[in-house]
Amino acid sequence: MIFYDTHAHYDDGRFDSDRETLLPELYRQGIGLINTIGTDIPSSRASIALAEQYPFIYAVVGGWPGNVGDMTEQDLEEYRTMASHEKVVAIGEIGLDYYYDDVPREIQKHWFDRQMALAAELSMPVVVHDRDAHGDCMDMVRKWAGQVKGVFHCFSGSAEMAVELTKLGWYVSFTGVVTFKNARRALEAVAAVSTDRIMIETDAPYLAPVPYRGRRNHSGYVPEVAKKIAEIKGLSLEEVARITTENGKRFFRISE
Ligand code: NI
Repeated sequence: MIFYDTHAHYDDGRFDSDRETLLPELYRQGIGLINTIGTDIPSSRASIALAEQYPFIYAVVGGWPGNVGDMTEQDLEEYRTMASHEKVVAIGEIGLDYYYDDVPREIQKHWFDRQMALAAELSMPVVVHDRDAHGDCMDMVRKWAGQVKGVFHCFSGSAEMAVELTKLGWYVSFTGVVTFKNARRALEAVAAVSTDRIMIETDAPYLAPVPYRGRRNHSGYVPEVAKKIAEIKGLSLEEVARITTENGKRFFRISE
């Protein structure tokens, strides 16, 4: 059984002590593909370096909404250059975060829009971070409909929103949050969308699933997310592993 963890942050300092042993071990355990996601210029560079080091790791490059307060057009140029690397599979994580609200909303929207334009120009998919900003994120999706397709990572919207996204050709991705006690909303979204539009992820080192909640997360826990989806969809774990891996490979255009 092979799993694809489509969203993790292996440049994070919490992996400094054991990254070199952990990543090969995860691969041996059946985590056959991993995306490591940039959140600013240095972490996007670090993500590419990891993708160069490990054949089963791919990189996503972009400016996360909490980091775009001082982003410049020169940074956008740098993301454009990075995106031409053969192991870079998407622009992200980009989007809006109205929970922390660290950066003025107009600035977040500006750089979300500019990075959507970059993805459109490069014909690349996007990885979207949406925290408490569903309405404005959907406006951005509709603005670029037909030009940009993407995935909402750690999907936290309603079932209706999930269905609308999939109708527009987008995907939704779920983390260990689906294993939490208060997960009703995320589970409704899982139930509402077609299985061929679902991806799984850890968002490691954050959001470790039950029964590992509170610990440092890593891709070895992604089967817990798949188990919950299997339960809701009435599928076997093997089927969910296979379908979500196929979905991720199709979406990120990985042919191996
Ligand atoms: Ni993330």
